[in-house]
Amino acid sequence: MGTVRPIIKISPMASSAVCFIGFCSVLLGFVVGIQASHVVYRDLQSIESSPKDHLPYRTGFHFQPAKNWMNDPNGPMVYKHVYHLFYQYNPYGADWGNIVWAHATSTDLVNWIHHKHAIYPSAPFDINGTWSGSATFLKGKKPAILYTGIDPQRRQVQNLAFPKSVSDPYLIEWTKPPQNPLMEPINGINSSSFRDPTTGWQGPDGRWRVIIGNKRGRRGMALLYRSKDFVHWTKAKHPLHSAKDTGMWECPDFYPVSVEGENGVDTSVIGKSVKHVLKNSLDDTKHDYYTIGTYYTEKDRYIPDAGSIDGDAGLRYDYGKFYASKTFFDDVKNQRILWGWINESLSREDYIKQGWSGVQAIPRKIWLDKFRKQLVQWPVVEIEKLRVNGIRLPRTELTGGSVHEISGVTASQADVEVTFELSKMGKIEEIDSNSLMNPQHLCSQKGAAVKGSVGPFGLLVLASKSLEERTAVFFRVFKSQNKYVVLMCSDQSRSSLREEPDKATYGAFLNVDPHREKLSLRSLIDHSIVESFGGKGKACITSRVYPKLAIDGGAHLYVFNNGTSSVTISSFSAWSMKGAQIKYL
Ligand code: FRU
Repeated sequence: MGTVRPIIKISPMASSAVCFIGFCSVLLGFVVGIQASHVVYRDLQSIESSPKDHLPYRTGFHFQPAKNWMNDPNGPMVYKHVYHLFYQYNPYGADWGNIVWAHATSTDLVNWIHHKHAIYPSAPFDINGTWSGSATFLKGKKPAILYTGIDPQRRQVQNLAFPKSVSDPYLIEWTKPPQNPLMEPINGINSSSFRDPTTGWQGPDGRWRVIIGNKRGRRGMALLYRSKDFVHWTKAKHPLHSAKDTGMWECPDFYPVSVEGENGVDTSVIGKSVKHVLKNSLDDTKHDYYTIGTYYTEKDRYIPDAGSIDGDAGLRYDYGKFYASKTFFDDVKNQRILWGWINESLSREDYIKQGWSGVQAIPRKIWLDKFRKQLVQWPVVEIEKLRVNGIRLPRTELTGGSVHEISGVTASQADVEVTFELSKMGKIEEIDSNSLMNPQHLCSQKGAAVKGSVGPFGLLVLASKSLEERTAVFFRVFKSQNKYVVLMCSDQSRSSLREEPDKATYGAFLNVDPHREKLSLRSLIDHSIVESFGGKGKACITSRVYPKLAIDGGAHLYVFNNGTSSVTISSFSAWSMKGAQIKYL
Protein backbone atom coordinates (compact mmCIF):
# COMPACT_ATOMS: atom_id res chain seq x y z
CA MET A 1 0.00 0.00 0.00
CA GLY A 2 3.04 2.25 -0.16
CA THR A 3 1.61 4.81 -2.50
CA VAL A 4 -1.84 5.00 -0.95
CA ARG A 5 -2.57 8.31 0.71
CA PRO A 6 -5.61 8.59 2.92
CA ILE A 7 -8.44 10.90 2.00
CA ILE A 8 -9.51 12.71 5.09
CA LYS A 9 -11.47 15.58 3.67
CA ILE A 10 -15.18 15.02 4.09
CA SER A 11 -17.49 17.81 3.02
CA PRO A 12 -21.27 18.18 2.75
CA MET A 13 -22.76 17.10 -0.51
CA ALA A 14 -23.53 19.81 -3.01
CA SER A 15 -27.31 19.96 -3.16
CA SER A 16 -27.77 19.40 -6.85
CA ALA A 17 -24.75 17.30 -7.53
CA VAL A 18 -25.73 13.79 -6.69
CA CYS A 19 -29.14 12.48 -7.42
CA PHE A 20 -30.67 9.70 -9.35
CA ILE A 21 -34.10 8.37 -10.00
CA GLY A 22 -35.61 6.72 -6.95
CA PHE A 23 -32.74 7.98 -4.89
CA CYS A 24 -32.85 11.78 -4.91
CA SER A 25 -35.48 12.30 -2.31
CA VAL A 26 -33.76 10.23 0.35
CA LEU A 27 -30.23 11.44 -0.03
CA LEU A 28 -28.64 12.06 3.31
CA GLY A 29 -25.12 11.70 2.12
CA PHE A 30 -22.02 13.69 1.65
CA VAL A 31 -19.28 13.78 -0.87
CA VAL A 32 -15.89 12.62 0.25
CA GLY A 33 -12.96 14.73 -0.79
CA ILE A 34 -14.55 16.68 -3.62
CA GLN A 35 -11.99 18.07 -5.96
CA ALA A 36 -12.74 20.20 -8.95
CA SER A 37 -12.76 17.77 -11.79
CA HIS A 38 -12.16 18.78 -15.34
CA VAL A 39 -15.21 17.45 -17.08
CA VAL A 40 -14.71 16.71 -20.74
CA TYR A 41 -17.89 16.17 -22.66
CA ARG A 42 -16.91 14.82 -26.00
CA ASP A 43 -19.33 15.44 -28.77
CA LEU A 44 -20.82 12.05 -29.33
CA GLN A 45 -24.19 13.31 -30.48
CA SER A 46 -23.97 11.58 -33.77
CA ILE A 47 -23.17 7.92 -33.98
CA GLU A 48 -22.83 8.43 -37.71
CA SER A 49 -19.46 9.95 -37.02
CA SER A 50 -16.11 8.44 -37.92
CA PRO A 51 -14.58 5.55 -35.94
CA LYS A 52 -12.37 8.07 -34.16
CA ASP A 53 -15.35 9.27 -32.14
CA HIS A 54 -15.72 5.82 -30.65
CA LEU A 55 -12.18 5.74 -29.30
CA PRO A 56 -13.38 6.33 -25.73
CA TYR A 57 -14.41 2.69 -25.63
CA ARG A 58 -10.92 1.36 -26.41
CA THR A 59 -9.38 0.00 -23.23
CA GLY A 60 -6.23 1.11 -21.44
CA PHE A 61 -5.00 -2.06 -19.76
CA HIS A 62 -7.00 -4.89 -21.29
CA PHE A 63 -5.67 -6.93 -24.19
CA GLN A 64 -6.85 -5.80 -27.63
CA PRO A 65 -5.50 -5.86 -31.18
CA ALA A 66 -5.12 -2.49 -32.94
CA LYS A 67 -8.34 -2.96 -34.90
CA ASN A 68 -10.80 -5.51 -36.32
CA TRP A 69 -12.62 -8.48 -34.85
CA MET A 70 -11.25 -10.70 -32.05
CA ASN A 71 -12.93 -13.65 -30.34
CA ASP A 72 -11.67 -16.68 -28.39
CA PRO A 73 -8.31 -16.80 -26.61
CA ASN A 74 -6.40 -19.77 -28.07
CA GLY A 75 -3.45 -21.91 -26.99
CA PRO A 76 -2.27 -19.82 -24.01
CA MET A 77 1.03 -21.07 -22.58
CA VAL A 78 4.29 -20.00 -21.03
CA TYR A 79 7.40 -21.11 -22.93
CA LYS A 80 10.95 -20.24 -21.93
CA HIS A 81 9.52 -17.62 -19.55
CA VAL A 82 7.52 -15.92 -22.31
CA TYR A 83 3.71 -15.90 -22.11
CA HIS A 84 1.91 -16.58 -25.38
CA LEU A 85 -1.61 -15.62 -26.26
CA PHE A 86 -3.10 -16.58 -29.61
CA TYR A 87 -6.60 -15.44 -30.47
CA GLN A 88 -9.28 -15.80 -33.13
CA TYR A 89 -8.93 -12.79 -35.38
CA ASN A 90 -10.34 -11.39 -38.60
CA PRO A 91 -7.52 -9.49 -40.39
CA TYR A 92 -9.99 -7.87 -42.77
CA GLY A 93 -12.72 -6.32 -40.63
CA ALA A 94 -14.55 -5.79 -37.35
CA ASP A 95 -17.01 -8.62 -37.94
CA TRP A 96 -16.46 -12.38 -37.49
CA GLY A 97 -14.93 -14.09 -40.56
CA ASN A 98 -11.63 -15.03 -42.32
CA ILE A 99 -10.44 -16.45 -39.00
CA VAL A 100 -6.70 -16.78 -38.28
CA TRP A 101 -4.69 -17.34 -35.11
CA ALA A 102 -3.20 -13.95 -34.30
CA HIS A 103 -0.36 -14.02 -31.80
CA ALA A 104 1.08 -11.86 -29.01
CA THR A 105 3.69 -12.44 -26.32
CA SER A 106 4.46 -10.94 -22.94
CA THR A 107 6.83 -11.47 -20.05
CA ASP A 108 4.36 -10.27 -17.42
CA LEU A 109 0.80 -10.90 -18.73
CA VAL A 110 0.25 -7.11 -18.75
CA ASN A 111 2.39 -5.60 -21.54
CA TRP A 112 2.20 -7.28 -24.93
CA ILE A 113 3.93 -7.44 -28.29
CA HIS A 114 1.85 -8.52 -31.26
CA HIS A 115 3.54 -10.77 -33.82
CA LYS A 116 2.58 -11.92 -37.28
CA HIS A 117 -0.24 -14.45 -37.50
CA ALA A 118 0.88 -17.84 -36.26
CA ILE A 119 -1.65 -20.15 -37.91
CA TYR A 120 -3.76 -19.26 -40.93
CA PRO A 121 -5.53 -21.10 -43.76
CA SER A 122 -2.85 -22.62 -45.98
CA ALA A 123 -3.79 -26.20 -46.83
CA PRO A 124 -6.97 -28.13 -47.73
CA PHE A 125 -7.48 -29.24 -44.11
CA ASP A 126 -7.88 -25.61 -42.91
CA ILE A 127 -8.50 -23.64 -46.09
CA ASN A 128 -11.81 -22.23 -44.85
CA GLY A 129 -10.70 -21.19 -41.38
CA THR A 130 -8.34 -21.90 -38.51
CA TRP A 131 -10.61 -22.08 -35.50
CA SER A 132 -10.03 -22.50 -31.78
CA GLY A 133 -7.68 -24.91 -30.08
CA SER A 134 -5.11 -25.41 -27.35
CA ALA A 135 -1.42 -25.90 -26.66
CA THR A 136 0.18 -28.97 -25.06
CA PHE A 137 3.79 -29.59 -24.09
CA LEU A 138 5.09 -32.91 -25.43
CA LYS A 139 8.25 -34.76 -24.39
CA GLY A 140 11.19 -32.44 -23.92
CA LYS A 141 8.76 -29.51 -23.46
CA LYS A 142 8.09 -29.28 -27.18
CA PRO A 143 4.96 -27.18 -27.75
CA ALA A 144 2.21 -28.58 -29.96
CA ILE A 145 -1.02 -26.91 -30.99
CA LEU A 146 -4.22 -28.73 -31.82
CA TYR A 147 -6.79 -26.58 -33.59
CA THR A 148 -9.94 -26.94 -35.66
CA GLY A 149 -9.61 -26.45 -39.40
CA ILE A 150 -12.47 -25.91 -41.81
CA ASP A 151 -11.89 -28.05 -44.89
CA PRO A 152 -13.08 -27.57 -48.50
CA GLN A 153 -16.40 -29.30 -47.69
CA ARG A 154 -16.75 -26.98 -44.70
CA ARG A 155 -16.30 -29.91 -42.36
CA GLN A 156 -14.68 -29.29 -38.97
CA VAL A 157 -11.49 -31.35 -38.59
CA GLN A 158 -8.71 -31.34 -36.00
CA ASN A 159 -5.17 -30.42 -36.98
CA LEU A 160 -1.73 -30.21 -35.44
CA ALA A 161 0.91 -27.48 -35.69
CA PHE A 162 4.47 -27.39 -34.36
CA PRO A 163 6.87 -24.47 -33.94
CA LYS A 164 9.49 -24.33 -36.68
CA SER A 165 12.19 -23.64 -34.12
CA VAL A 166 11.92 -24.74 -30.49
CA SER A 167 14.86 -22.51 -29.66
CA ASP A 168 12.81 -19.39 -30.48
CA PRO A 169 11.10 -18.32 -27.22
CA TYR A 170 8.65 -16.23 -29.28
CA LEU A 171 7.54 -19.21 -31.38
CA ILE A 172 6.97 -17.00 -34.39
CA GLU A 173 6.86 -19.62 -37.17
CA TRP A 174 4.56 -22.65 -37.16
CA THR A 175 4.43 -25.68 -39.46
CA LYS A 176 1.67 -28.17 -40.09
CA PRO A 177 2.73 -31.85 -40.34
CA PRO A 178 1.63 -33.84 -43.42
CA GLN A 179 -0.56 -36.21 -41.33
CA ASN A 180 -3.24 -33.50 -40.99
CA PRO A 181 -6.17 -33.71 -40.54
CA LEU A 182 -5.71 -35.94 -37.50
CA MET A 183 -9.37 -36.32 -36.55
CA GLU A 184 -12.28 -36.19 -38.96
CA PRO A 185 -16.05 -36.16 -38.42
CA ILE A 186 -16.76 -39.76 -39.45
CA ASN A 187 -19.00 -42.53 -38.11
CA GLY A 188 -21.98 -40.32 -37.44
CA ILE A 189 -20.21 -37.28 -35.95
CA ASN A 190 -21.93 -34.09 -37.05
CA SER A 191 -19.35 -32.27 -39.20
CA SER A 192 -20.55 -28.81 -38.15
CA SER A 193 -20.42 -29.60 -34.41
CA PHE A 194 -16.95 -31.05 -33.95
CA ARG A 195 -14.47 -28.48 -32.75
CA ASP A 196 -12.13 -26.83 -30.25
CA PRO A 197 -9.63 -29.49 -29.02
CA THR A 198 -8.38 -29.08 -25.46
CA THR A 199 -4.90 -29.20 -24.01
CA GLY A 200 -3.85 -32.85 -23.90
CA TRP A 201 -3.25 -34.83 -20.71
CA GLN A 202 -1.56 -38.18 -20.17
CA GLY A 203 -3.38 -41.01 -18.41
CA PRO A 204 -1.72 -43.57 -16.13
CA ASP A 205 -1.06 -45.71 -19.27
CA GLY A 206 1.05 -42.89 -20.74
CA ARG A 207 -1.33 -42.30 -23.62
CA TRP A 208 -2.46 -38.79 -24.48
CA ARG A 209 -6.08 -37.73 -24.22
CA VAL A 210 -7.95 -34.71 -25.55
CA ILE A 211 -11.61 -33.82 -25.71
CA ILE A 212 -13.44 -32.16 -28.59
CA GLY A 213 -16.68 -30.14 -28.29
CA ASN A 214 -19.69 -31.82 -29.90
CA LYS A 215 -23.44 -32.37 -29.69
CA ARG A 216 -25.82 -35.14 -30.68
CA GLY A 217 -29.30 -33.74 -31.05
CA ARG A 218 -29.58 -31.42 -28.05
CA ARG A 219 -27.12 -33.43 -25.94
CA GLY A 220 -23.86 -31.53 -25.49
CA MET A 221 -20.77 -33.72 -25.27
CA ALA A 222 -17.03 -33.86 -24.86
CA LEU A 223 -15.76 -36.49 -27.30
CA LEU A 224 -12.67 -38.29 -26.01
CA TYR A 225 -9.71 -39.21 -28.22
CA ARG A 226 -6.54 -41.10 -27.26
CA SER A 227 -3.09 -41.25 -28.84
CA LYS A 228 0.34 -42.73 -28.16
CA ASP A 229 2.25 -40.17 -30.22
CA PHE A 230 -0.05 -37.10 -30.37
CA VAL A 231 -0.35 -37.65 -34.13
CA HIS A 232 -2.48 -40.78 -34.52
CA TRP A 233 -5.73 -40.52 -32.59
CA THR A 234 -8.51 -42.99 -31.85
CA LYS A 235 -11.93 -42.00 -30.64
CA ALA A 236 -13.00 -43.62 -27.37
CA LYS A 237 -16.35 -45.45 -27.40
CA HIS A 238 -17.91 -43.06 -24.94
CA PRO A 239 -17.49 -39.33 -24.38
CA LEU A 240 -15.61 -38.10 -21.30
CA HIS A 241 -18.91 -36.53 -20.27
CA SER A 242 -22.20 -35.37 -21.83
CA ALA A 243 -25.40 -33.70 -20.65
CA LYS A 244 -28.85 -33.61 -22.20
CA ASP A 245 -30.49 -30.41 -23.42
CA THR A 246 -27.34 -28.30 -23.22
CA GLY A 247 -26.75 -27.89 -26.97
CA MET A 248 -23.33 -27.55 -28.57
CA TRP A 249 -20.36 -27.54 -26.18
CA GLU A 250 -17.81 -25.11 -27.59
CA CYS A 251 -14.28 -24.69 -26.27
CA PRO A 252 -14.33 -27.40 -23.58
CA ASP A 253 -11.59 -27.20 -20.97
CA PHE A 254 -10.68 -30.06 -18.62
CA TYR A 255 -8.09 -29.74 -15.86
CA PRO A 256 -7.18 -30.69 -12.30
CA VAL A 257 -7.22 -28.26 -9.37
CA SER A 258 -5.43 -28.84 -6.04
CA VAL A 259 -7.77 -29.73 -3.20
CA GLU A 260 -5.78 -27.45 -0.94
CA GLY A 261 -4.18 -24.08 -1.48
CA GLU A 262 -4.08 -21.77 -4.46
CA ASN A 263 -1.31 -23.36 -6.52
CA GLY A 264 -2.11 -24.70 -9.94
CA VAL A 265 -1.07 -28.12 -11.23
CA ASP A 266 -0.11 -29.52 -14.60
CA THR A 267 -3.00 -30.81 -16.73
CA SER A 268 -1.87 -34.48 -16.44
CA VAL A 269 -1.92 -34.58 -12.62
CA ILE A 270 -4.35 -37.17 -11.20
CA GLY A 271 -4.96 -38.68 -7.77
CA LYS A 272 -6.25 -37.70 -4.38
CA SER A 273 -4.53 -34.33 -4.27
CA VAL A 274 -6.81 -32.95 -6.99
CA LYS A 275 -10.41 -32.55 -8.09
CA HIS A 276 -11.23 -32.02 -11.77
CA VAL A 277 -13.03 -29.20 -13.52
CA LEU A 278 -14.92 -29.47 -16.81
CA LYS A 279 -15.86 -26.17 -18.43
CA ASN A 280 -18.01 -25.81 -21.52
CA SER A 281 -19.01 -22.76 -23.50
CA LEU A 282 -22.69 -23.08 -24.30
CA ASP A 283 -23.29 -21.99 -27.87
CA ASP A 284 -27.01 -21.54 -27.18
CA THR A 285 -26.66 -19.05 -24.33
CA LYS A 286 -23.08 -17.80 -24.77
CA HIS A 287 -22.18 -18.61 -21.17
CA ASP A 288 -19.17 -20.51 -19.81
CA TYR A 289 -20.35 -22.91 -17.12
CA TYR A 290 -18.31 -25.45 -15.19
CA THR A 291 -18.73 -28.40 -12.88
CA ILE A 292 -16.38 -29.77 -10.23
CA GLY A 293 -16.05 -33.52 -10.06
CA THR A 294 -13.94 -36.65 -10.22
CA TYR A 295 -12.00 -38.05 -13.14
CA TYR A 296 -12.18 -41.87 -13.06
CA THR A 297 -9.08 -42.85 -15.02
CA GLU A 298 -9.87 -46.61 -15.24
CA LYS A 299 -13.03 -45.80 -17.16
CA ASP A 300 -11.86 -42.49 -18.64
CA ARG A 301 -14.99 -40.77 -17.44
CA TYR A 302 -15.60 -37.57 -15.60
CA ILE A 303 -18.51 -37.36 -13.15
CA PRO A 304 -19.57 -34.04 -11.60
CA ASP A 305 -19.99 -34.03 -7.82
CA ALA A 306 -23.51 -34.20 -6.43
CA GLY A 307 -24.92 -30.68 -6.57
CA SER A 308 -22.54 -29.54 -9.35
CA ILE A 309 -25.03 -28.97 -12.14
CA ASP A 310 -24.46 -29.26 -15.90
CA GLY A 311 -25.79 -26.52 -18.14
CA ASP A 312 -26.83 -22.92 -17.87
CA ALA A 313 -28.18 -23.29 -14.31
CA GLY A 314 -24.73 -24.45 -13.15
CA LEU A 315 -21.80 -22.42 -11.89
CA ARG A 316 -20.31 -19.85 -14.22
CA TYR A 317 -16.82 -18.40 -14.34
CA ASP A 318 -18.44 -15.05 -14.86
CA TYR A 319 -22.08 -14.00 -14.76
CA GLY A 320 -21.65 -11.19 -17.29
CA LYS A 321 -19.88 -11.07 -20.65
CA PHE A 322 -17.21 -13.76 -20.68
CA TYR A 323 -17.05 -16.56 -23.22
CA ALA A 324 -14.97 -19.25 -24.93
CA SER A 325 -12.42 -19.12 -22.13
CA LYS A 326 -9.37 -21.29 -21.67
CA THR A 327 -6.95 -22.04 -18.83
CA PHE A 328 -3.29 -23.00 -18.84
CA PHE A 329 -0.83 -24.10 -16.19
CA ASP A 330 1.87 -21.50 -15.60
CA ASP A 331 4.78 -23.57 -14.31
CA VAL A 332 6.89 -20.45 -13.76
CA LYS A 333 4.61 -19.25 -10.97
CA ASN A 334 2.82 -22.53 -10.22
CA GLN A 335 -0.58 -21.11 -10.97
CA ARG A 336 -3.45 -21.89 -13.32
CA ILE A 337 -4.53 -18.92 -15.36
CA LEU A 338 -7.84 -18.27 -17.05
CA TRP A 339 -8.33 -16.18 -20.18
CA GLY A 340 -11.80 -15.25 -21.48
CA TRP A 341 -13.25 -13.26 -24.34
CA ILE A 342 -15.43 -10.24 -23.53
CA ASN A 343 -17.59 -9.53 -26.54
CA GLU A 344 -19.38 -6.31 -27.38
CA SER A 345 -22.85 -5.31 -26.19
CA LEU A 346 -23.26 -3.17 -29.30
CA SER A 347 -25.21 -4.11 -32.39
CA ARG A 348 -23.23 -5.66 -35.24
CA GLU A 349 -23.75 -2.48 -37.23
CA ASP A 350 -22.26 -0.39 -34.42
CA TYR A 351 -19.16 -2.44 -33.80
CA ILE A 352 -18.44 -2.60 -37.51
CA LYS A 353 -18.75 1.18 -37.50
CA GLN A 354 -16.32 1.52 -34.58
CA GLY A 355 -13.78 -0.61 -36.47
CA TRP A 356 -13.05 -3.14 -33.75
CA SER A 357 -14.82 -5.73 -31.68
CA GLY A 358 -13.88 -7.79 -28.63
CA VAL A 359 -11.47 -7.54 -25.71
CA GLN A 360 -9.79 -10.20 -23.56
CA ALA A 361 -10.55 -10.15 -19.84
CA ILE A 362 -7.66 -9.56 -17.47
CA PRO A 363 -6.03 -12.98 -16.99
CA ARG A 364 -7.20 -14.48 -13.72
CA LYS A 365 -5.52 -16.88 -11.35
CA ILE A 366 -7.98 -19.69 -10.64
CA TRP A 367 -8.13 -22.24 -7.80
CA LEU A 368 -10.54 -24.39 -5.80
CA ASP A 369 -12.40 -22.83 -2.88
CA LYS A 370 -11.68 -24.38 0.50
CA PHE A 371 -15.16 -25.98 0.61
CA ARG A 372 -14.32 -27.62 -2.78
CA LYS A 373 -17.67 -26.66 -4.25
CA GLN A 374 -16.64 -23.81 -6.51
CA LEU A 375 -13.65 -22.03 -8.04
CA VAL A 376 -12.18 -18.72 -6.95
CA GLN A 377 -10.68 -16.21 -9.41
CA TRP A 378 -8.47 -13.20 -8.94
CA PRO A 379 -6.75 -10.88 -11.44
CA VAL A 380 -3.10 -11.87 -11.87
CA VAL A 381 -0.97 -9.97 -9.38
CA GLU A 382 1.12 -8.39 -12.16
CA ILE A 383 -1.77 -6.12 -13.07
CA GLU A 384 -1.10 -4.26 -9.79
CA LYS A 385 2.10 -2.90 -11.40
CA LEU A 386 -0.16 -0.48 -13.26
CA ARG A 387 -1.60 1.02 -10.07
CA VAL A 388 -0.64 4.66 -9.46
CA ASN A 389 -1.78 7.46 -7.11
CA GLY A 390 -3.58 5.23 -4.66
CA ILE A 391 -6.16 6.66 -2.30
CA ARG A 392 -7.71 5.18 0.79
CA LEU A 393 -10.83 6.02 2.76
CA PRO A 394 -10.96 5.85 6.51
CA ARG A 395 -13.54 3.54 8.06
CA THR A 396 -16.83 5.18 7.08
CA GLU A 397 -20.43 4.55 7.90
CA LEU A 398 -22.56 4.54 4.80
CA THR A 399 -25.98 5.53 6.03
CA GLY A 400 -29.09 4.47 4.20
CA GLY A 401 -29.70 6.64 1.14
CA SER A 402 -26.24 8.12 0.85
CA VAL A 403 -23.86 8.60 -2.04
CA HIS A 404 -20.20 9.57 -1.69
CA GLU A 405 -18.04 10.68 -4.53
CA ILE A 406 -14.52 9.29 -4.50
CA SER A 407 -12.06 11.75 -5.90
CA GLY A 408 -8.39 11.49 -6.65
CA VAL A 409 -8.47 8.57 -9.07
CA THR A 410 -8.90 8.55 -12.82
CA ALA A 411 -12.38 7.08 -12.73
CA SER A 412 -12.32 5.91 -16.36
CA GLN A 413 -9.28 3.69 -15.76
CA ALA A 414 -9.07 2.43 -12.20
CA ASP A 415 -8.78 -0.48 -9.81
CA VAL A 416 -11.08 -0.23 -6.79
CA GLU A 417 -11.22 -2.48 -3.74
CA VAL A 418 -13.86 -2.00 -1.06
CA THR A 419 -14.97 -4.05 1.93
CA PHE A 420 -18.34 -3.66 3.63
CA GLU A 421 -19.20 -4.71 7.14
CA LEU A 422 -22.81 -5.39 8.06
CA SER A 423 -22.79 -5.14 11.81
CA LYS A 424 -26.24 -3.65 12.30
CA MET A 425 -28.49 -5.46 9.89
CA GLY A 426 -32.06 -4.31 10.36
CA LYS A 427 -35.05 -6.09 8.99
CA ILE A 428 -33.99 -8.17 6.02
CA GLU A 429 -36.08 -8.64 2.88
CA GLU A 430 -37.47 -12.15 2.52
CA ILE A 431 -37.46 -13.88 -0.84
CA ASP A 432 -39.15 -17.10 -1.85
CA SER A 433 -37.29 -20.10 -3.18
CA ASN A 434 -38.38 -19.33 -6.78
CA SER A 435 -36.32 -16.14 -6.69
CA LEU A 436 -33.27 -18.25 -5.91
CA MET A 437 -33.46 -19.85 -9.33
CA ASN A 438 -32.26 -16.91 -11.37
CA PRO A 439 -29.99 -14.23 -9.85
CA GLN A 440 -29.90 -12.26 -13.11
CA HIS A 441 -33.66 -11.97 -13.07
CA LEU A 442 -33.63 -10.92 -9.41
CA CYS A 443 -31.02 -8.23 -10.16
CA SER A 444 -33.09 -6.85 -13.00
CA GLN A 445 -36.19 -6.70 -10.79
CA LYS A 446 -34.24 -5.16 -7.93
CA GLY A 447 -31.80 -2.84 -9.66
CA ALA A 448 -29.72 -0.18 -7.90
CA ALA A 449 -32.58 2.32 -7.92
CA VAL A 450 -34.96 -0.06 -6.13
CA LYS A 451 -34.70 0.75 -2.46
CA GLY A 452 -34.16 -2.17 -0.09
CA SER A 453 -33.36 -2.80 3.55
CA VAL A 454 -29.82 -4.28 3.56
CA GLY A 455 -28.68 -2.98 0.20
CA PRO A 456 -28.43 -2.19 -2.57
CA PHE A 457 -24.99 -0.83 -1.63
CA GLY A 458 -21.78 -0.76 -3.63
CA LEU A 459 -20.09 1.28 -6.33
CA LEU A 460 -21.34 3.55 -9.07
CA VAL A 461 -18.67 3.36 -11.74
CA LEU A 462 -18.23 5.12 -15.08
CA ALA A 463 -20.78 7.60 -13.76
CA SER A 464 -21.42 11.08 -15.11
CA LYS A 465 -21.21 13.96 -12.65
CA SER A 466 -24.97 14.18 -12.17
CA LEU A 467 -25.44 10.43 -12.40
CA GLU A 468 -27.55 10.44 -15.55
CA GLU A 469 -25.14 7.70 -16.51
CA ARG A 470 -23.81 5.16 -14.05
CA THR A 471 -23.09 1.45 -13.86
CA ALA A 472 -23.97 0.14 -10.42
CA VAL A 473 -22.06 -2.81 -9.03
CA PHE A 474 -23.66 -3.72 -5.74
CA PHE A 475 -24.77 -6.21 -3.13
CA ARG A 476 -28.16 -6.83 -1.62
CA VAL A 477 -28.86 -9.16 1.28
CA PHE A 478 -32.02 -11.26 1.55
CA LYS A 479 -33.28 -14.02 3.78
CA SER A 480 -34.76 -17.21 2.48
CA GLN A 481 -35.78 -20.08 4.76
CA ASN A 482 -33.84 -18.54 7.62
CA LYS A 483 -30.61 -18.33 5.64
CA TYR A 484 -28.88 -15.24 4.36
CA VAL A 485 -28.68 -14.86 0.60
CA VAL A 486 -26.20 -12.35 -0.84
CA LEU A 487 -26.96 -11.12 -4.32
CA MET A 488 -24.28 -9.40 -6.39
CA CYS A 489 -25.43 -7.35 -9.38
CA SER A 490 -23.93 -5.31 -12.20
CA ASP A 491 -26.71 -3.01 -13.31
CA GLN A 492 -26.17 -1.46 -16.72
CA SER A 493 -29.70 -0.17 -17.13
CA ARG A 494 -28.43 3.43 -16.73
CA SER A 495 -24.93 2.92 -18.07
CA SER A 496 -25.41 5.09 -21.14
CA LEU A 497 -27.61 7.79 -22.60
CA ARG A 498 -27.14 5.93 -25.86
CA GLU A 499 -30.08 3.68 -26.54
CA GLU A 500 -28.61 1.01 -28.78
CA PRO A 501 -26.29 -1.02 -26.51
CA ASP A 502 -27.63 -4.07 -24.71
CA LYS A 503 -28.11 -2.97 -21.10
CA ALA A 504 -29.11 -6.27 -19.51
CA THR A 505 -28.45 -6.38 -15.78
CA TYR A 506 -26.30 -9.29 -14.60
CA GLY A 507 -26.43 -11.10 -11.29
CA ALA A 508 -24.89 -13.85 -9.21
CA PHE A 509 -25.38 -15.29 -5.75
CA LEU A 510 -22.34 -14.96 -3.54
CA ASN A 511 -21.56 -17.85 -1.24
CA VAL A 512 -20.63 -15.70 1.76
CA ASP A 513 -22.29 -15.47 5.18
CA PRO A 514 -22.64 -11.69 5.66
CA HIS A 515 -23.04 -12.14 9.40
CA ARG A 516 -19.60 -13.66 9.81
CA GLU A 517 -17.64 -12.32 6.88
CA LYS A 518 -17.18 -8.89 5.37
CA LEU A 519 -18.44 -8.42 1.84
CA SER A 520 -15.65 -7.46 -0.50
CA LEU A 521 -15.83 -6.07 -4.00
CA ARG A 522 -13.08 -5.32 -6.48
CA SER A 523 -13.83 -3.62 -9.80
CA LEU A 524 -11.39 -3.13 -12.65
CA ILE A 525 -12.72 -0.19 -14.61
CA ASP A 526 -11.38 0.36 -18.11
CA HIS A 527 -13.42 2.82 -20.22
CA SER A 528 -16.01 0.36 -21.55
CA ILE A 529 -15.32 -2.61 -19.27
CA VAL A 530 -16.19 -3.17 -15.64
CA GLU A 531 -14.76 -6.46 -14.37
CA SER A 532 -15.99 -7.11 -10.84
CA PHE A 533 -14.95 -9.71 -8.28
CA GLY A 534 -17.23 -10.27 -5.28
CA GLY A 535 -16.36 -12.13 -2.08
CA LYS A 536 -12.61 -12.17 -2.87
CA GLY A 537 -13.25 -13.78 -6.24
CA LYS A 538 -16.12 -16.16 -5.46
CA ALA A 539 -18.41 -14.48 -8.00
CA CYS A 540 -17.31 -12.47 -11.04
CA ILE A 541 -19.37 -10.23 -13.30
CA THR A 542 -18.01 -8.48 -16.37
CA SER A 543 -19.98 -5.72 -18.06
CA ARG A 544 -19.51 -3.85 -21.33
CA VAL A 545 -20.80 -0.29 -21.20
CA TYR A 546 -20.72 2.63 -23.64
CA PRO A 547 -21.28 5.90 -21.78
CA LYS A 548 -21.74 9.13 -23.66
CA LEU A 549 -20.87 11.54 -20.83
CA ALA A 550 -18.89 9.37 -18.42
CA ILE A 551 -15.87 9.05 -20.66
CA ASP A 552 -12.29 10.01 -19.86
CA GLY A 553 -12.36 13.10 -17.58
CA GLY A 554 -16.16 12.98 -17.52
CA ALA A 555 -16.15 9.69 -15.59
CA HIS A 556 -16.73 9.70 -11.83
CA LEU A 557 -16.71 7.12 -9.08
CA TYR A 558 -19.11 6.88 -6.14
CA VAL A 559 -20.01 4.59 -3.28
CA PHE A 560 -23.69 4.37 -2.45
CA ASN A 561 -26.20 2.76 -0.16
CA ASN A 562 -29.81 2.70 -1.26
CA GLY A 563 -30.99 0.49 1.58
CA THR A 564 -32.49 1.59 4.89
CA SER A 565 -29.80 -0.12 7.02
CA SER A 566 -26.41 1.48 7.41
CA VAL A 567 -23.40 -0.44 6.26
CA THR A 568 -19.80 0.27 7.20
CA ILE A 569 -17.03 0.65 4.69
CA SER A 570 -14.28 -1.06 6.65
CA SER A 571 -11.68 -0.58 3.95
CA PHE A 572 -11.54 1.27 0.67
CA SER A 573 -8.58 1.59 -1.69
CA ALA A 574 -8.54 2.80 -5.26
CA TRP A 575 -5.85 3.45 -7.80
CA SER A 576 -5.65 5.09 -11.18
CA MET A 577 -4.34 2.56 -13.67
CA LYS A 578 -1.54 3.30 -16.11
CA GLY A 579 -2.07 2.01 -19.62
CA ALA A 580 -0.49 -1.33 -20.52
CA GLN A 581 2.21 -1.12 -23.16
CA ILE A 582 0.96 -2.90 -26.22
CA LYS A 583 3.09 -3.01 -29.35
CA TYR A 584 1.02 -3.56 -32.41
CA LEU A 585 2.26 -5.03 -35.67
C1 FRU B 1 -16.47 -19.90 -29.95
C2 FRU B 1 -16.25 -20.38 -31.39
C3 FRU B 1 -15.56 -21.73 -31.42
C4 FRU B 1 -14.93 -21.73 -32.77
C5 FRU B 1 -14.50 -20.27 -32.92
C6 FRU B 1 -14.56 -19.75 -34.32
O1 FRU B 1 -16.64 -18.52 -29.89
O2 FRU B 1 -17.48 -20.44 -32.07
O3 FRU B 1 -16.41 -22.82 -31.21
O4 FRU B 1 -13.84 -22.59 -32.87
O5 FRU B 1 -15.37 -19.52 -32.09
O6 FRU B 1 -14.04 -18.46 -34.39
